[in-house]
Amino acid sequence: MCGIVGYTGLGQGAAGGVATPSRTPLDVALEGLRRLEYRGYDSAGVALVAPGFERVATAKKAGKLANLIEEVDLHPLPDATAAIGHTRWATHGGPTDTNAHPHLADGDRLAVIHNGIVENFALLKQELLADGVTFHSETDTEVAAQLIAKAYRETGNLTAAMGVAARRLHGTFTLLAVHADVPDTVVGARHDSPLVVGLGEGENFLGSDVAAFIAHTHEALELGQDQIVTITPTSVAVTDFDGNPAEAKRFTVDWDAEAAEKGGFDSFMDKEIHDQPHAVGDTLLGRTDASGNLVLDDLRIDESLLRAVNKIIVVACGTAAYSGHVAKYAIEHWCRIPVEVELAHEFRYRDPIVDEKTLVVAVTQSGETMDTLMAVRHAREQGAKVISIVNTHGSTIPRESDAVLYTHAGPEIAVASTKAFLAQITAAYLLGLYLAQLRGNKFPDEISAILDELRDMPRKIQTVIERGEYVRATARSMRDASSVLFLGRHVGFPVALEGALKLKELAYIHAEGFAAGELKHGPIALIDEGQPVFVVVPSPRGRDSLHSKVVSNIQEIRARGARTLVIAEDGDDEVRKYADEIFWIPQAPTLLQPLLAVVPLQIFAMALATAKGLDVDQPRNLAKSVTVE
Ligand code: F6R
Repeated sequence: MCGIVGYTGLGQGAAGGVATPSRTPLDVALEGLRRLEYRGYDSAGVALVAPGFERVATAKKAGKLANLIEEVDLHPLPDATAAIGHTRWATHGGPTDTNAHPHLADGDRLAVIHNGIVENFALLKQELLADGVTFHSETDTEVAAQLIAKAYRETGNLTAAMGVAARRLHGTFTLLAVHADVPDTVVGARHDSPLVVGLGEGENFLGSDVAAFIAHTHEALELGQDQIVTITPTSVAVTDFDGNPAEAKRFTVDWDAEAAEKGGFDSFMDKEIHDQPHAVGDTLLGRTDASGNLVLDDLRIDESLLRAVNKIIVVACGTAAYSGHVAKYAIEHWCRIPVEVELAHEFRYRDPIVDEKTLVVAVTQSGETMDTLMAVRHAREQGAKVISIVNTHGSTIPRESDAVLYTHAGPEIAVASTKAFLAQITAAYLLGLYLAQLRGNKFPDEISAILDELRDMPRKIQTVIERGEYVRATARSMRDASSVLFLGRHVGFPVALEGALKLKELAYIHAEGFAAGELKHGPIALIDEGQPVFVVVPSPRGRDSLHSKVVSNIQEIRARGARTLVIAEDGDDEVRKYADEIFWIPQAPTLLQPLLAVVPLQIFAMALATAKGLDVDQPRNLAKSVTVE
């Protein structure tokens, strides 16, 4: 959701011996917005300031960033010293030019952009209307802008004004402001919404995430909750909302701008599907000591507490929650600890039974999903310890967790998740094996054997990707399908759910995932002549009954006219007889099979959407990080 960029630089020329950057603030803002497009948005805008400006210069347009770029080409903006830029995902007020950010106040000398929702905006608006303020948009952001303007008139200081306004706002927000009076300064504030600082030489940056400035610097600061940051080209000052100095955590981004480019693929999604062997391999790297024991360095939780855990609850949303379902099968099997998987938004608003012996595992690619963040807070308030499995450094959820296990999938730009899903499953396996090691549920050689199998998974995932053309051809032949069903048992069940979600998101086709055993309890009524049904078949070398049960399910639906699209292990001759189409995957232990079985389903959804002419990187109505509840 909303993307935010801020920049201030000395500009071209010598400046006190500091090597000065030659880029313009407008270019930095537009480039940052381009890199943040993946977050999802429906309008975009920029604001610029420079010494001598009578008012802030702005441009904003509904629709894609290209519309904004066309606008600034047609009506060029003056050179500037600082800029803020915004991509908006509409909440209050439709996606129009007027509602697009920035919003102006203080005689057009102040510009503000905002990510989040101001929950008490109606009340504040009434108060400001009574003061004689005129509003031009339907947004909650304009209320925040007017509040900052009012405080600025009282304090004469943009940082202080931001603090005064921030203290009055309820809800979630990242706010950035520039004022024509201080043309080298950008001020930002955050409460329950993301904001990171990029540190440069003679220039500094702000962004919703590091992608906003990764082309210029890898050095960054992670702001804490309720902090304000004031950047000039040569300084970064962090305070709390009351103006007291505050600490922000420095970190170095370990991927570069190229990782966030398409690299010759037609779409980010295609590239990210191809990245999956690396995402899994890198997530496994460096996790064992010289004697082969698992060491999860980031886990700061006392080992005695982990030994005492008597229940695990995985909280997550969407695809990340499906990785939790896979984790449940593995952790219960390896550690004999009961595992529940809960959608974070459901967990938060019921009365979950959680105490000091409960371990909550929050799984999130972005580290910013508001529903998951609220679940983390709720769990900790009840006394539970929280481990988060997160892909994005500098995000909020790891900072609010007791411990964090980072996935190393690299930046995931396509809105629908692919490589992060595989990396999340991998990290969850590592957590399960670590708990099994710690609690003595498995012998060290058993754990080593599973780790060896895991280390072989990137090679097998690569094989599945290389077999992708047959999946793509099948998808192209099904471009007119109006409904596709997905069946799986055991760990194949979450794979079926994920396959259905990918198809819904990317191709806008009705798709449902079912536990194959549930079929006879209702869903079989959907089976009609020609109904396409994907079936994820477990390994015939695994628990015997599991394989034969799924084979029976395939026979049942085929007998009723279904067209069966089967994902099966190499050498599974039994199932071949019942498949209309068969997508082979390499042999793997039952619990690890999801890392392979989901890949043809991702490729299928992507190829079918592409055949329909849809944008697979930015499906309609979706945002990459869902930063509102
Ligand atoms: C689906 C998808 C979403 C996310 C969900 C959680 O393709 O991407 O379902 O998995 O919104 O997001 P994170 O992992 O960032 O918490």
